[in-house]
Amino acid sequence: MDKTLQNKKNLNLTPDFSFYPRKTIRDVVVHPLGLEVIFEADKRTFHLSQDLREHATDPETTHPITKETLISPLDIPEDFFIKQAEISSDGFIRVVWSHKITPNDEGFSLYHSGWLFSTGMTSEFDFNNDTSIKIWDASNFDNIPVISGTNLSDNKEFEKMLITLIQYGVVIIKGLPVEENTLENVASRIGTIRNSNFGRIFDVKYKHNPDSNAYTNEELLLHNDLSTREYIPGLQLLFCMINETDGGFSTLADGFAIADYIKDHDTEIYDLLSGYKVSFANKAKTSDYRIESPIIRHNDKGVVNEIRWTCWLRSPLRGSLSRMNDFYEAQKKFYKLVNSDQFKVEFKLNPGDMICMDNRRILHGRTRFSETHGERWMRGCYLERDELQSALRLVRRDAIWHKQQ
Ligand SMILES: [Fe+2]
Repeated sequence: MDKTLQNKKNLNLTPDFSFYPRKTIRDVVVHPLGLEVIFEADKRTFHLSQDLREHATDPETTHPITKETLISPLDIPEDFFIKQAEISSDGFIRVVWSHKITPNDEGFSLYHSGWLFSTGMTSEFDFNNDTSIKIWDASNFDNIPVISGTNLSDNKEFEKMLITLIQYGVVIIKGLPVEENTLENVASRIGTIRNSNFGRIFDVKYKHNPDSNAYTNEELLLHNDLSTREYIPGLQLLFCMINETDGGFSTLADGFAIADYIKDHDTEIYDLLSGYKVSFANKAKTSDYRIESPIIRHNDKGVVNEIRWTCWLRSPLRGSLSRMNDFYEAQKKFYKLVNSDQFKVEFKLNPGDMICMDNRRILHGRTRFSETHGERWMRGCYLERDELQSALRLVRRDAIWHKQQ
């Protein structure tokens, strides 16, 4: 194959910023609708002709800097197909097209074996490590790995933190510097902080004129934050600056574990919790968010994906008296479990400790404290859930990059 042409084509190896380990390709088969690639161990990927052409790395069809596609399905002729495909000497696949679709189109494209493997596999291929959900209760909460704040700058420890948070919905970091910008530093390393009516960074302290129960010294029963919002924040970080009070213990429970338990033990209650739409409304002088949503929600695969519950933001129930009564009893049973010794854990955060949690899964709270015996100061912020996966991909991209250097 013409080396000059190959070098030119290979300026952008893949149409993105990721690094893919090369894979050995055994064979390629051209079908009327697209390409079949056969890898070692008889693993096969399939690529639709038009789709493959849209993701070619040619600078006229994929921007060489942004790496975003410059063409659309409207540029692909109706009778577009693959004329020929072969494995090049350096392991790339060379695909010859039926049509040239841009002014300088050379009529063929080159594809990286690792990219073909990764994008063509029908199951998730992003991560090598196990990132499956692991539910927990009070009996095994202590088994969740604790992260060292002093090692967090190390990519390995940061990766461990991200994976733990994805799996368990919560991770505790200990020994971070007790400084005002620590929370923002850790949050920004994960991703973009989400602003809210409580501010980009909020300080949870006792206030004489509070705009939320969080700013009183009262016990905060287990809850999710911002249950009144259409899109409830996916992550919450809470960082302990000062905790000298005689109470103020942190409480947590795994909402997914409780949903699983209810599903196994009482399907009628489960159906009410996942079917009856509860009204939530925030009570503030400067905002008026309202939403109707079940306490337990599923994703498009029918798997529990969200718990939404803030007892003190629930609006009066609606419906027939019997339906309201049934739901009232169901939410009471749910909340009894949330606060039971089986599911709830309680512990004290010390200055320098941070809780990172999935706010659409983990319910959190605190015990009462005296406003006259010592100070309690937590700093908090929100992010979205998908920042975790993005951060994890970036860490892995970085690791592969360094390996290749
Ligand atoms: Fe909260």
